[in-house]
Amino acid sequence: MGNCTGVSEAALTILPDTNNTPAATGFSLSQDEDPEDSCRSPFIGSDLEDAVYGQIATILQEQQNFYLEGYKVPCIKRRLAVRIRAVGGNDPDAYIELLRENMHEQEQLLATLSIHVSQFFRNGSVFKVLEKQILPELLEISRHSSSKLRIWSVGCANGEEPYSLALLCQKQRYQEDLLSIVGTDLSPEALTRAKRGFFPPERVQGVPEEMLADFFIKSGQQYRLIEQIRERVQFFRHDIIADQPFYRANLILCRNLLIYFSRAQQQQIMEILAAALLPGGYLVLGRAETMALGSRKLFVCIDPAERIYRRLPGTA
Ligand SMILES: C[S@@+](CC[C@H](N)C(=O)[O-])C[C@H]1O[C@@H](n2cnc3c(N)ncnc32)[C@H](O)[C@@H]1O
Repeated sequence: MGNCTGVSEAALTILPDTNNTPAATGFSLSQDEDPEDSCRSPFIGSDLEDAVYGQIATILQEQQNFYLEGYKVPCIKRRLAVRIRAVGGNDPDAYIELLRENMHEQEQLLATLSIHVSQFFRNGSVFKVLEKQILPELLEISRHSSSKLRIWSVGCANGEEPYSLALLCQKQRYQEDLLSIVGTDLSPEALTRAKRGFFPPERVQGVPEEMLADFFIKSGQQYRLIEQIRERVQFFRHDIIADQPFYRANLILCRNLLIYFSRAQQQQIMEILAAALLPGGYLVLGRAETMALGSRKLFVCIDPAERIYRRLPGTA
């Protein structure tokens, strides 16, 4: 799904063509469910037959260019059941007919499958390690090699994660032209929200008070990140499975995304991320995520509690 074209010095090496966005509107669970729990909970609730699942998957693939393959089937089934109930019926066949004919319902379904829950400095201790240890080290390496420090936040939702990194870099007064921070997500809506930079109070509660005062402007019930920080992050629509990866990253954050995928798909994503990282580059996973056994030849774990891994040189 989706093509990747264009090269920009300002971003990482390969940038996706953001105009070529099939109507996939993002993915995973509901807007307000905690992703760290949702897909790990035992499958409750849906006795949706495989044949129904298969037909829905085909419609989404053919008409929305959205591939369900690789996602955890119980998670998806549970969400599908929610949507089928929400349209007022318990008749999967009628729902399939509706879905086949009705583009709006296809979009609604994709929205139901979506979750963009995030917050600034989520799992705060990992940002401390990034600030004190990883970013200074990477910046030093970049200075010596006269190349930019390239950071990629995969599945960045509404931008909280890459913006947190931008805030840390601002705090350390890292020179702007030495840095490239890119946030990517499958969901165009999440990316639009990211670019606008308005956040409700619960999303900014991890922001230190002084930072909140210096870099956010209260706007009604929301907080708006100031332009100076917003423009330090570039956002692109990108599907980690289907699109060309970005290359030559020094640091990749891929947090609370793997959890939605089957083990086999997770393994494949690890290979994609390993290829995208420069040797010695760092990968950060989410608290609830672990690296599949088969990927451990690609990375060494340098901080088990914070799920920080380092790319081993010379392995593909
Ligand atoms: C729970 S959010 C994680 C946000 C952030 N990384 C964090 O940890 O707070 C997961 C994000 O992954 C995105 N996503 C799901 N499938 C994806 C895919 N195949 N490629 C890229 N992003 C994807 C969703 O749209 C969602 O915004």
